[in-house]
Amino acid sequence: MKLKKFVAVAAGLTMAMSLAACGGGGAGSTDTSSSADTSASSSGGSDSAGGLIGVAMPTQTSSRWIADGNAVKKGLEDLGYTVDLEYANDDIPTQQQQVDQMITKGAKALIIAAIDGTTLTGQLQTAADKGIPIISYDRLIRNSENVDFYVTFDNYKVGVQQATSLLVGLGILNKDGSKGSAKGPFNIELFAGSLDDNNAYFFFNGAMDTLKPYLDDGTLVVKSGQTDIKQVNILRWQQETAQKRMEDLLTSTYNDGSKVQGVLSPYDGLSRGIIQALMNAGYPKTISDGFPIVTGQDAEIESVKLIADDVQFSTIFKDTRLLANEAVKVAQAYLEGKTPEANDTKTYDNGKKVVPSYLLESVIIYKDNIQKELVDSGYWTADEVASGVAKG
Ligand code: GAL
Repeated sequence: MKLKKFVAVAAGLTMAMSLAACGGGGAGSTDTSSSADTSASSSGGSDSAGGLIGVAMPTQTSSRWIADGNAVKKGLEDLGYTVDLEYANDDIPTQQQQVDQMITKGAKALIIAAIDGTTLTGQLQTAADKGIPIISYDRLIRNSENVDFYVTFDNYKVGVQQATSLLVGLGILNKDGSKGSAKGPFNIELFAGSLDDNNAYFFFNGAMDTLKPYLDDGTLVVKSGQTDIKQVNILRWQQETAQKRMEDLLTSTYNDGSKVQGVLSPYDGLSRGIIQALMNAGYPKTISDGFPIVTGQDAEIESVKLIADDVQFSTIFKDTRLLANEAVKVAQAYLEGKTPEANDTKTYDNGKKVVPSYLLESVIIYKDNIQKELVDSGYWTADEVASGVAKG
């Protein structure tokens, strides 16, 4: 059934691919024959040889989503597709409207990183009725039958890595996983992501399962007592909200001369808000001088600089180039009438079905592996790390 509905579009694509091959620009090459329309990001409408693909991203306020959007667009354009890439400014009605418009413009596939994983059900039904395959990008779209595939990282493991880096920063563990010399007790505080994002639960669960033995034996103490995701989440992953919560915690809990020594933060944007609050409260300026251990995620350039400068302790690198590449491969498979390859068919139940997924691996970044993991791999240049600004 599923296959059938994609066969018609597949025929179109096969033709497009043969045309591209005749023109000398096959898949993955620098194709001049079919990807000339690089201004297509918001125009859509007129089909290139491969047809239009809609890419819906949540926000431009974070450098990771910009990198994701650009990488997906480029990958698809290199294959001869036209891309309608849209950012929704973290506003749900805007994203709904954008997806509606992509469908109206005749998109042949949709790649969606949802703001709120539960709010696109109507759009997805319309798309499914037209036989448009839907790929959930990084964040799982929930409560809909009409999600064909999910490309993401091993999100539970990301949470484990975040907690592990906190333990390493505090000296409880060594980087090789062996027991460190520090005994504690250490005061820590916990942050989680936005509850409308399924990933937030995976990160938090992975982290809490890892921290639990140390909380149980008193090595770690959450001095505020706020350990439930309902208490520690940050709506829409907003930096300012995280800063405000950290300020409130300092006032309510650390007004007796005690110090916070570590903060579990699940995303670099939140980490920067937390760091700002700690700086404003007069904590020492570097980790070597006693600044608290703050974790992160996404290897955003502003945070990579903070890590290089000995302020933020760690981040988790999820290579958006690999994720984008996976999304492109999956879209292409559907449009060729094939079933994309999943490496996980158990974990991601969206409330209506278990969505076949492809999970990628993430890497913990500390100051000493920025060069190897981020610079040598071409993710950021040494100049960008030094300035904290993406040059593009
Ligand atoms: C999550 C994503 C994280 C981070 C966060 C805030 O869904 O998995 O990597 O980007 O959103 O944007």
